[in-house]
Amino acid sequence: MKRGTLKPHSRRQAWDNDALRDPHAQLDKAARIEAMFDAIAPTYEWVNTVASFGRDAQWRRRTVAAADVRPEDVVLDVCCGTGDMVRAFAQTKPTPRLIIGLDFSTRMLKRGHFNGVQTQVRVIRGDALRMPLAPETADVISCVFGVRNFRDLQAGLAEMYRVARPGARVVILEFATPGNRALRWVYQVYCDHMLPLAAGVLSRERMGAYRYLARSIRTFETTLTMTRRLEDAGLRDVTARRMNLGGVVLYRGVKPGGQEVAEQ
Ligand SMILES: C[S@@+](CC[C@H](N)C(=O)[O-])C[C@H]1O[C@@H](n2cnc3c(N)ncnc32)[C@H](O)[C@@H]1O
Repeated sequence: MKRGTLKPHSRRQAWDNDALRDPHAQLDKAARIEAMFDAIAPTYEWVNTVASFGRDAQWRRRTVAAADVRPEDVVLDVCCGTGDMVRAFAQTKPTPRLIIGLDFSTRMLKRGHFNGVQTQVRVIRGDALRMPLAPETADVISCVFGVRNFRDLQAGLAEMYRVARPGARVVILEFATPGNRALRWVYQVYCDHMLPLAAGVLSRERMGAYRYLARSIRTFETTLTMTRRLEDAGLRDVTARRMNLGGVVLYRGVKPGGQEVAEQ
């Protein structure tokens, strides 16, 4: 398998059974992810809303609230996709001075819409693991449903740390597997069977995107190990707030130094 490239046939089926056995270990994971999001970009937002029963808007608002935005802040939304979080930050009060959205999927960015956004927005096509940004650029870094897709999670967190200013708040929203056994069973039936079927039909995708979603959640970090990884990346005061019965977790950490901003 060649690092970072997708063969033409695998562009059609980015996530076949073989790759899904251990999605996070695939050497060409980044290329598969980019091809997958390029393919599902046209339906991404509304399938998200349907699949989350409309809850995703509330999770995003809580993520924005945890960032404690100030008017002079530069917000960097890593893996911004079609701009859901950029719009959420633009609607918060106080509004930050600048919002930068970064993503490597050209089609997700092209589908992005920023109508009615009053603040300054910059959209960059780039890899979250090697951001084309100077050190200490952002006061707030957000990443919503992005980190699970990184080829190298620790490298991605280190990169966020590099571009964060001292005192910056890092807020990460990610899916998780509920701890409670009964809930976990219900959640897994939904993720493994109902979601791939329904979302696959709605989005008409043939790349295994929603099977990847289920499998990548199940094989991702636990809340505990993810918390440790954030601490290992250098963040402090790391917290993990479970939402949606433990199916979604909001992580928050602060880069040491700078002015203290307490979580509200
Ligand atoms: C599940 S979507 C989330 C989009 C958006 N944050 C949201 O909340 O709807 C994940 C996004 O991460 C992007 N992505 C994944 N890995 C990336 C990487 N290494 N560099 C840049 N973007 C990446 C994908 O292209 C995709 O747009």
